[in-house]
Amino acid sequence: MLLDIRNVDFGYQNEQPLLVDFSMHIKKGEFVALLGPSGCGKSTLLNLAAGLLTPLDGEVDFGGNALHGLNRQVGYMTQGDTLLPWMSVSKNILLPLELRGVPRAERQQKLERALKLVNLVEARDKFPSELSGGMKRRALLARSIIYEPPMLLMDEPFGALDAQLRETMHQELLDTVNRMDESVLFVTHDISESILLADRIIVLGNRPLRVMEEIRLPWGKDRNLNEIRGCDEYVRLEHHLRDLLRMSKH
Ligand SMILES: Nc1ncnc2c1ncn2[C@@H]1O[C@H](COP(=O)(O)OP(=O)(O)OP(=O)(O)O)[C@@H](O)[C@H]1O
Ligand SMILES: [Mg+2]
Repeated sequence: MLLDIRNVDFGYQNEQPLLVDFSMHIKKGEFVALLGPSGCGKSTLLNLAAGLLTPLDGEVDFGGNALHGLNRQVGYMTQGDTLLPWMSVSKNILLPLELRGVPRAERQQKLERALKLVNLVEARDKFPSELSGGMKRRALLARSIIYEPPMLLMDEPFGALDAQLRETMHQELLDTVNRMDESVLFVTHDISESILLADRIIVLGNRPLRVMEEIRLPWGKDRNLNEIRGCDEYVRLEHHLRDLLRMSKH
């Protein structure tokens, strides 16, 4: 088990408990999508996995050890824009490598690869204020994968992208995580995206956060996204998930 969230209680100060005895886990190399209503606690779960929040009770284990403080083994692409406005795209993307003291030659090599991967080679010297919404998301993606952490936490990473770019990013993300045998915990509101990308979908319900259903996808790692979109099982799953999400709101 790479990430093991066990019997966790959590609530924000002066608020109703959000998680009560909540458990979920992710194996090495697994891609898990979280679907659930707004405000149910998806970002909170990611923050617990990143060690930014601490459970009131229960345990969060990563790689077999209980988490204490920040989890440095995850790349975290948060919902918001956390690019530093006074640094260029390249400098922003390089930041995690500099913080880790990676040698200069290796930094440069990884930067080139990351820029190519997210299609930002030409924008490398621009500042965040000069980027479109989609370009910012791509820079954030590059920054979270550049040091090849064993797990990526991604909070609605592609919501702001146009449909075509999103399709490209889907394929790129799958290729990248498969090549690096990466585990992914991926929050999305997009049912289709969850079916295409995940090995397993966890549908979450509200108050307290609970697992309504888990669905294992039958596609395998070397999936062809265009073929999946055309098959009957995809259409069936899409309907099923739409019904589940409608129920999870109540
Ligand atoms: N820092 C905070 N202090 C107090 N309450 C918070 C804080 N962050 C989130 N909450 C509350 O906790 C609940 C869960 O929030 P969270 O951001 O985890 O939801 P979410 O499932 O990610 O929603 P969305 O899909 O809209 O991003 C919400 O009711 C929210 O108002
Ligand atoms: Mg959220």
